[in-house]
Amino acid sequence: MAEPKKLFIKTYGCQMNVYDSSRMAEAMSADGYVLTEDQAEADMVLLNTCHIREKAAEKLYSDLGRLKPMKAEKPDLKIAVAGCVAQAEGEEIVNRMPLVDLVVGPQSYHKLPAMARGEGPRVLTEFPAEDKFDHLPKRATRRAPTAFLTVQEGCDKFCAFCVVPYTRGAEVSRPVERILAEARDLVERGVREITLLGQNVNGWHGAGADGHEWHFGRLIRAIAEIDGLDRIRYTTSHPNDMTDDLIEAHGDEPKLMPYLHLPVQSGSDRVLKAMNRKHTAAEYLRLIERIRAARPDIMLTSDFIAGFPGETDQDHRDTLKLIEDVGYGTAFSFKYSPRPGTPAAGRECVPDDVADARLQEMQALLTRQQKAAQESMVGRRVGVLFEKTGRIEGQMVGKSDYLHSVFVEAPDARIGDLIEVEITHSAANSLAGKLL
Ligand code: 5AD
Ligand code: SF4
Repeated sequence: MAEPKKLFIKTYGCQMNVYDSSRMAEAMSADGYVLTEDQAEADMVLLNTCHIREKAAEKLYSDLGRLKPMKAEKPDLKIAVAGCVAQAEGEEIVNRMPLVDLVVGPQSYHKLPAMARGEGPRVLTEFPAEDKFDHLPKRATRRAPTAFLTVQEGCDKFCAFCVVPYTRGAEVSRPVERILAEARDLVERGVREITLLGQNVNGWHGAGADGHEWHFGRLIRAIAEIDGLDRIRYTTSHPNDMTDDLIEAHGDEPKLMPYLHLPVQSGSDRVLKAMNRKHTAAEYLRLIERIRAARPDIMLTSDFIAGFPGETDQDHRDTLKLIEDVGYGTAFSFKYSPRPGTPAAGRECVPDDVADARLQEMQALLTRQQKAAQESMVGRRVGVLFEKTGRIEGQMVGKSDYLHSVFVEAPDARIGDLIEVEITHSAANSLAGKLL
């Protein structure tokens, strides 16, 4: 048998890319590629890119620049670019960086093995109507205890700052039976926690086996029926798609974890309108109230943008106020970055130093909230799903129900065990716990 070829994958950006990378690795393994963690020994380097902010996209070009000496030394090395930069820039990538052999957009990953064999185009970024997941092979290997599962892709919301509707295209929901089959397969291979993914995951609406259209809450309940699966999460959601049914599931479906990433972006109605978010700050706060009524201990997280075009000091203070009112477990905040082709790209920007200062103020507040949320866990009992061993002998590391990393001394535990733990200590980005 021929020596296996080695594939190195670098994944940028969101969890959707992490999922796609794992599916591409499985597809390439059918062609004799094994994954390597060491880029230097790779026969193929695959960069799975992100286009959401300018910095993320520019990273691709600096990484490609760094690959030049390797390619010069090893002319057979294949370099492939996948993901949202591939989709957005296509042909331009090979023009700017001729060392790139292949460019493949997110909807065409099933063609990657053929392209790598030289049996396809060099650049493929069209949006085909077929479900690429049907064509992506899976290997019956044992899996880590947690896994991602993409149920929905693309977005029809057109927030004024966002490239997703252009790079990932219109919303597409995978049908129920496909999702359930993939979830069952994951559980058979050792997965105990599944995170359902979609750019607008709670907007998922797919065809059920009964011929009816299902909504997201019902999908969660169907997945929860799988024996051996203990935990369900989902990300990312839009406030306007938090249906009653889904909120109810947070109240009464024990496998649905008490954690929700619900981006609001801004606390100012003026800015929300300019962003085309289609809801007000008060509507968001009311929604949070209803979610907390269903599940009082739920941990909330969000994304925020500082310095969106037209944002005033008062708008910024409104955002800080909303953050204070909600009390987040953790949150991500970004400085506005104009993206070519989006409605906000041509609008006048807030001066850089002002945006920077606002971002810092927001981050300081969010860091304080994160610290408080973590400290409030001390003394509480939570389930922890062990994902790996720690650096100290006998130590295990896992995630709590609320998605905190928890370190526990548990010499007899195994990866994949879900155990109740008492939280004893809160550190910068993790918790420590002890077995009961
Ligand atoms: N500039 C800054 N942040 C952005 N995001 C999306 N587009 C931009 C942009 N152009 C942020 C939003 C989104 C998260 C994934 O990235 O907060 O929720
Ligand atoms: Fe982008 Fe808005 Fe769609 Fe989220 S909802 S992917 S921010 S357009």
